[in-house]
Amino acid sequence: MSHDLFEAAKTAMAKAYAPYSKFPVGAALRTEDGRVFTGANIEVASYPEGWCAETTALGHYIMAGGGKIVEIAVLAERMAKCSPCGGCRQRLAEFCRPDTKLYLCDNTGVAETVTMGEMLPYGFRGDILK
Ligand code: THU
Repeated sequence: MSHDLFEAAKTAMAKAYAPYSKFPVGAALRTEDGRVFTGANIEVASYPEGWCAETTALGHYIMAGGGKIVEIAVLAERMAKCSPCGGCRQRLAEFCRPDTKLYLCDNTGVAETVTMGEMLPYGFRGDILK
């Protein structure tokens, strides 16, 4: 099933800088008021210093003022239904609610829809730190 957020993630994936893993990833997220922010993974020669597509998208989202995230799409050229890594689940959860939809994609569109609550059950919550 194709989806405009999938198309946004695909466009973002084309901008990935992944010369080491050769595993391009794209992510797109939509806020409650309809704004869409995208990102691709960015690798560096010192491998652990690279970062994920979801993290790039979150950077754009925060710099544009944030807001409630209602939908997220993730796409990897070489892996159907690539799901966010553990670190990205925690980063995304910071700005989502448990019912935020996450679209796991393949090269043709949305392959499966899950929620952030399903992706990060019992995740660490920072409420007490505020
Ligand atoms: N990657 C992402 O961009 N998002 C994920 O959720 C999983 C992994 C990237 C990081 C690295 O550039 C490449 O995929 C291989 O791990």
